[in-house]
Amino acid sequence: MFTLIIVGTTLVLSVGALYKYMTANQGVFKKLGIDHPPTSWFFGNAGLAFQHGNFDLQKLMYKQYKDHKVYGWYDMRRPVMIIKDLDMAKDIFIKNFNNFVDRYQIFDADPPFKDNLLSLSGNHWKHVRAAISPVFSASKIKKMSGHIERNSKILLENLRQCQETGQEVELKDICSNFALDVIASTGFGLEINTQRDPKNKFAIEAKKVMNPNAAIITLIYFFPVVKTLLTALGIPVLSQRSLEYFAELIDQVIEDRKKEERMGTVNDFVDLVMRAEAESEQPSVKKLTRSEIHGQALAFILAGFETVSTVLSFTLFYLAMNPECCQKAQEEVDDNCGDKFPDYDEVQSLTYIDMCINESMRLAPPGFFNTRICVEDTVIHGVQIPKDMVVGVPVYAIHHDPDIYPEPEKFDPERFNSENKASRHPMAHLPFGHGPRSCIGMRLALLELKMVLVTILQQLTPVPCSNSVFPIQLSRMHLKATNGLWVKFIRRR
Ligand SMILES: *[C@@H]1O[C@H](CO)[C@@H](O)[C@H](O)[C@H]1NC(C)=O
Repeated sequence: MFTLIIVGTTLVLSVGALYKYMTANQGVFKKLGIDHPPTSWFFGNAGLAFQHGNFDLQKLMYKQYKDHKVYGWYDMRRPVMIIKDLDMAKDIFIKNFNNFVDRYQIFDADPPFKDNLLSLSGNHWKHVRAAISPVFSASKIKKMSGHIERNSKILLENLRQCQETGQEVELKDICSNFALDVIASTGFGLEINTQRDPKNKFAIEAKKVMNPNAAIITLIYFFPVVKTLLTALGIPVLSQRSLEYFAELIDQVIEDRKKEERMGTVNDFVDLVMRAEAESEQPSVKKLTRSEIHGQALAFILAGFETVSTVLSFTLFYLAMNPECCQKAQEEVDDNCGDKFPDYDEVQSLTYIDMCINESMRLAPPGFFNTRICVEDTVIHGVQIPKDMVVGVPVYAIHHDPDIYPEPEKFDPERFNSENKASRHPMAHLPFGHGPRSCIGMRLALLELKMVLVTILQQLTPVPCSNSVFPIQLSRMHLKATNGLWVKFIRRR
């Protein structure tokens, strides 16, 4: 009897505590006078995400709150203010940037990934960003193009083999192996050759970091406190062995270079970071610590691999499904580059290819929801945003707004001709975010995409095949085509 009372009381108390914990923030939006979907005590509004999937839900809410500048969203117990108004988004990204410097993470990164540009906050972020920025300048990126050229040619060779045997190609894997090889060479001067040997250690470990244990991530998503517990117990979330593999690899690369006195000759990320250190171009910028170098190198892999491969595979697929666009792109390539591999300046003149890539990133933006954290009470366009509030710009929904982009599901690169572009709000296209915290690798990513597209389109034409499923159906939670991106290639000459 006594035990029963104890068990009963404990149960009631814990359910009560859980209820209190989960609902602690509910009411925040009401106080601010901001509308939001009806909540459940446990999920907040997250139940809707499971019901509709990320992409449909974003569009659904965007439509439902059409006349609102902002609306509320309880991501489990965490209030997130969704910024629909493009003028407000602009102020958050640019004018009021100092009050919105940080980015929202579901969980904090562990060492050796801790000090990375994606998750750093405040002044620490500013310092590292300033130190790393010169590495991504036009002149430095130019020097990386040899690495892109070598890997583009391997990709072309593989595609030609498929073309000769009449094999249909699923673009995602083949593009992802290409992107990984480019990362390994532009990042670390390594020729890992995933395109020929997909099972090399670098590729296996990188894919492991990209696909962390889904069960643990889900648990943390439901109960952020789980992460605090894991950290206290010293248990990392991302594959620790993989992260350590990369940290050691970077150390090894740096040591080898020093020993062989090859520093400054390889023109990759490690080289440029080390050189930036030595030259110390801006004396006000402190040197990076080894831990910061590890963090950036890992971020370089993680941020530059899935994103580029997604955009490349979607763009090739859209071109296959829209032969008149593909033909126009090929004419531009022929006129500007002929048969040879394009140099940096020729790439800059490829306007139509640029429009095709932008249209592909409009339809399928890897960064489909862009967040910041408000670090000081701020009022923007009459909307009060309290300190610590997470704000999010619904990039995917904006990119699919029929008032901004008529017939939003249609692939139409002409949306990005100068006339159409000038008629739109500058925040209507946000594939790389905007302002001081926009994607640091944008120029490199675009250069890589254009160079490889030229290489392919010079020789091959992507066309639909029996496995192609178009329109594309996105998976519910990730920016992936549920049925793959299947095409065939035809030889041009
Ligand atoms: C394509 O997008 C990039 C990145 O947002 C931008 O810099 C460029 O001007 C865009 N090009 C066109 C033609 O819209």
